[in-house]
Amino acid sequence: MKVKDRLSLQFTFMFAVLLIVVLSGIYVLAAGNRSQTFFDKLEDRALTAGQLYLAQDNMSEESFSKVIKKYPQSLSHEVIRIYNDKNEPVFIKEDSVHWSESVIKRVVQEKKVRFTNGDKQVAGLYYIDNSGNFVVIASAIDDAGFQNLKQLLWIMIFFFVISLLITFFLGRFFATIALQPIAQIIGKMKIIRATSLDKRLPVNTYRNDEINQLSLTINELLEHLEQSFSAQQSFIANASHELRTPLTTIMGNAEITLRTDREKEDYKNTLREIIKEVEELNKIINSLFELSQANMDSFTVETVRLDELLWEAVDECGHKLKNNPIKYSVPAYGEKCTIQGSRRLLFIAFSNILNNAVKFSNNSEVTCALELNETSVSVIIADKGIGITTADLQKIFQPFYRAPNSQGFQGSGIGLSLADKIIKLHNGTIQVKSEINAGTEFKIIFSR
Ligand SMILES: Nc1ncnc2c1ncn2[C@@H]1O[C@H](COP(=O)(O)OP(=O)(O)OP(=O)(O)O)[C@@H](O)[C@H]1O
Ligand SMILES: [Mg+2]
Repeated sequence: MKVKDRLSLQFTFMFAVLLIVVLSGIYVLAAGNRSQTFFDKLEDRALTAGQLYLAQDNMSEESFSKVIKKYPQSLSHEVIRIYNDKNEPVFIKEDSVHWSESVIKRVVQEKKVRFTNGDKQVAGLYYIDNSGNFVVIASAIDDAGFQNLKQLLWIMIFFFVISLLITFFLGRFFATIALQPIAQIIGKMKIIRATSLDKRLPVNTYRNDEINQLSLTINELLEHLEQSFSAQQSFIANASHELRTPLTTIMGNAEITLRTDREKEDYKNTLREIIKEVEELNKIINSLFELSQANMDSFTVETVRLDELLWEAVDECGHKLKNNPIKYSVPAYGEKCTIQGSRRLLFIAFSNILNNAVKFSNNSEVTCALELNETSVSVIIADKGIGITTADLQKIFQPFYRAPNSQGFQGSGIGLSLADKIIKLHNGTIQVKSEINAGTEFKIIFSR
């Protein structure tokens, strides 16, 4: 069922419940009012009958009956009986109904009695007069009143049905108008494909309703999708380029060597070249593998002491260097500088950043520090190297991106993107401050 149909049905149902409550209330009031008015009428008739009965001394019984029939206008199925002190009927109009003694006694006791007997309504009066006390009981059926009530009921049913129909169609009309922007969004979204991710939904800047917010949210999603899609595309392009470079060198070397017969030493040299390139290729493939593996599912969480881990990374990095330029100045924080995470992955992240610092500063001084405060623990790695331009700071975390000023240095541009991914997996952030030819500072912040 479409939303607009469901909405209009729900609306109609709600209105139906409301109408039923209101109309039932009106009906109950009208029915009560009818009964009350008819009792009043009956009492009036009983009183008149009593008064006329007392005046009958001056009239013959026949003329008295005539008068009582005329005045006031007789009610439908009307029966009037007047009883004397001894409970004997002294006047009877229509002899179809007889009242038991208990009813007569009740009237005497209560002076005024009203009750319903089947369709009939009954009113009894105790009439006190000089010439004796009488009980007058009048009963009749309110045919006209019931007729009116029936009519009222039919009118109500008629308007109830008509109102519901109008509500349903009006509700549907308004729901269609209200949902029209959503239908437009659906229409536009159907056009957007992987190749047209640059398209956006129209947004009304003057309106701030839910529909506009939906469009804005979808646009943000499209923005992210477009970015990650193009990042993925450039990743694949860069990855294949990086893999192709050493392969081309290997092919070239092998082909040139094979063109003529060569000395044994030449073959050895070519093979050494090939091994170097294969090692490079291996490094790239390993980094790519680590990049794809670095996700939460693939590592077990343990308590990691950052000072120890940083020291290990410094140690490993320094070992490869002739004169170790890394200055490690971390006080013994002990247990205070621990975080939950993967020791292996964090080691890879720190090593990459450290190796960069050493590499891009031509082995000049690199400092490592650990900063601790109430809410966070930070690792700071600073160098005095070539620096990074502001424009490049945005891009260095992209896989395979290498800044133009780093072209003279070995590398394939994967290290930082891997480090970034690992730090993010540990809910950490990386801040970079850099000045061209003055140095760079990487601050990795973990919350505690
Ligand atoms: N300490 C630094 N000083 C100057 N530039 C840096 C520094 N660290 C990173 N960069 C810049 O960021 C780029 C990306 O770094 P990344 O570690 O990803 O690649 P790489 O070191 O060139 O290659 P790989 O790490 O894959 O061997 C570098 O090419 C360089 O331009
Ligand atoms: Mg690197």
